[in-house]
Amino acid sequence: MQLMKAHELREKYIEFFKGKQHAQIAGKSLIPENDPTVLFTTAGMHPLVPYLLGEDHPAGKRLVNYQKCIRTGDIEAVGDPHHLTCFEMLGNWSLGDYFKDEAIAMSYEFLTSPEWLGIDPGLLSVTVFEGDEDAPRDEESAAKWKELGIPEERIYYLPKEDNWWGPAGETGPCGPDTEMFYDTGREACGDDCSPGCSCGKYFEIWNDVFMQYRKTREGSFEPLARKCVDTGMGIERTAAVLQGKQSVYDTEVFASVITKIETLSGHTYGGDEQKDTSVRIIADHVRTSVFILGDEQGVTPSNVGQGYILRRLIRRAVRHGKKLGIEGFFLSELAQMIIDQYGDVYPVMEDRRDVILRELPAEEEKFLKTLQKGEHEFSKLLPNLLKGNQRVIPGRIAFKLYDTYGFPLELTEELASEHEFTVDREGFEKAFQKHQEASRAGAEKVFKGGLADHSDHTTALHTATHLLHRALRNVLGDHVQQKGSNITVERLRFDFTHPEKLTPQQIKEVEDMVNNVISRDLAVTMEVMSLDEAQKQGALAFFGDKYESQVKVYSVGDYSREVCGGPHVSHTGQLGRFKITKEQSSSAGVRRIRAVLKDA
Ligand code: ALA
Repeated sequence: MQLMKAHELREKYIEFFKGKQHAQIAGKSLIPENDPTVLFTTAGMHPLVPYLLGEDHPAGKRLVNYQKCIRTGDIEAVGDPHHLTCFEMLGNWSLGDYFKDEAIAMSYEFLTSPEWLGIDPGLLSVTVFEGDEDAPRDEESAAKWKELGIPEERIYYLPKEDNWWGPAGETGPCGPDTEMFYDTGREACGDDCSPGCSCGKYFEIWNDVFMQYRKTREGSFEPLARKCVDTGMGIERTAAVLQGKQSVYDTEVFASVITKIETLSGHTYGGDEQKDTSVRIIADHVRTSVFILGDEQGVTPSNVGQGYILRRLIRRAVRHGKKLGIEGFFLSELAQMIIDQYGDVYPVMEDRRDVILRELPAEEEKFLKTLQKGEHEFSKLLPNLLKGNQRVIPGRIAFKLYDTYGFPLELTEELASEHEFTVDREGFEKAFQKHQEASRAGAEKVFKGGLADHSDHTTALHTATHLLHRALRNVLGDHVQQKGSNITVERLRFDFTHPEKLTPQQIKEVEDMVNNVISRDLAVTMEVMSLDEAQKQGALAFFGDKYESQVKVYSVGDYSREVCGGPHVSHTGQLGRFKITKEQSSSAGVRRIRAVLKDA
C-alpha cells in the first residue's frame, strides 16, 4: 500500500481520472449557490445537481474534482476519533456516459493498482443495494465486484438506509450506491459486525452512486432520461487508511495543530479520553471555522444560518480550550497553521487570511463576555432559586440561559454545583427539543425550492436574479458585484457590494427597469464558450477563484449576460411582476435585497 499524505492523494486522484478522459472542474463555495435546501455544500455532487438532472455541463460528460464539504449534523456529537465537521471530497462523475461497470472497474483500479493506492484487495469489502419496492436488488454491481475478484462473502446487500444516495432536500437525483470499505484488521465487535458498523473495524473510503431516478415531491421515483454516476471519496479518511492510522486525527492533516494544542494546554494527546476529546473538538472546529471564514462567500459569525453554525463552532472550541486550561486567546495561532496548510489548495483562503485572523479573536472575545454575562444572570436568579425547597435548577431556566445568553449547559451545571444545586437535564433536553422542532418546521419551509427543485417559480426567480443584478449595476454603478444569492419558492435574496443604503428612488428605478425588461418578453438564451470569450462578450462572472475552461453563458436579450449553470425561463414574459420587499445591510459594504415575483 502506498504511504500517502492527504495532499498527495488529492493529486493522484485527479491525475488518475484525467488519464481516463475526465475534465477537472473547480470545486465550489461551501455556501450553495441558489440552493437553500441545505446550509452548506455537503458533498461534491451538490453543486452538480442540475447536471445530474439533465442539464449539459460545459466541461463534458466525464468530470473530476475535489470539493470542500461541511456536515454539521449534530455538532454536539463531534469529538470521537472519526467525526469531522469539515472534509474534502474527491469525486468523479459520468453525465450519461459510463455507468456501473466502468465506474466500479475504475474505482477498483485506483484503489488496488500498485501504481495508484495499492490497497490489498483482500482487505476490501463492498456493499450493494438489497432492493425494495422502489428499485431492484443491485445484482449488476455485485456481479462486477465478483468479476474483479471480490468474493461473495465480502459483498454485503444492505437496505436504502445504507446503500442509497438521495437528494439533500425533498426532491432531486438519487439512486442505489455501492460502497467500498477497508478492513483495519481490528477484531469484529460481534457476529453481526459488517461494513456499515460503527465500531471502527471497517473504514468506509468510497461511494459510487448510480443516479437513475429523480425523487418527486410526491415521493415517487421517476427514471432519469440520462443515467449518471456520482462518486465520493473522503480525503482525510482515506489518508488515514493509507497511513495505517486508526483515526483521521492521527494523520498529518491534524498533526501540527494537535501539537500546538498540546503546547498551549500542557496536555499530551493520547491517554486521557476526556481531554483527548477536547483536543479533537478544538482541532476540528478551528479547522472548519477557517474553511468557513476563508470561503469565497465570506460568511462571518452571526445568529442566523451559516453564521450561526460558525459562531457555535468557534464558541465550542473556546469552551474546550478553557476546559483544557488554555489561557487567553488561542484560535488565531491555530488558524495560521491551517491557512498555511491549505492556502495553496484554496487560494481564496489565503486571500482572506486577514479576515480570518480578525474575526476569530473578535468572536473569542465576545464569547468571553457572554460567559461573564451568563454568570451575572445566574447570580441574579440565585436568590429566587434558594427560596424553593429543592436544590434543582429547572430545565427551562437552564435552556433560557443557553438560548438567550449562549451560556452552555455544562457551565450552568458547574455554577449550579458551586451552590450545591443540580440542573434538571431532562427538562433542559425537552426544552431544547421543543425549540429544535420549531426551527425544523421553519427550515422545512426553506427546503422547498432551490436548484434541486426546478419548479417553475424558482426558475423564474433565478432569471429575475440576473435582471436584478444588471439593473443594480445600471442604477448604482459597476462597483456592484454579486456576493451571494439564495432562492426559495417564495422569494429571491441577493447580496451585493454597495457602500450605502439604497434610496426609495433608487429602489423604484431598479424595480421599474426589471419590470420593463419583463414586459418586453425578451428571449433567454444559453451558449457554451470559453471563459475568455465570455468575458470578452461582457458576461458578468463573480464566483470562486477558479473556473472551468468552458462555461455556460445565459443572455436575456441584449440586456443581461451572465456566466451561470442555469436553469432559466425561456422568455422574460413568464416572470410576472417584480417587487423588492426589503433592502438592508448584510455586512460591511454589502447590501441585501429580497424580492418576489407576483402574477402579472
Ligand atoms: N454523493 C455521494 C456521497 O457523498 C458520492 O457519498
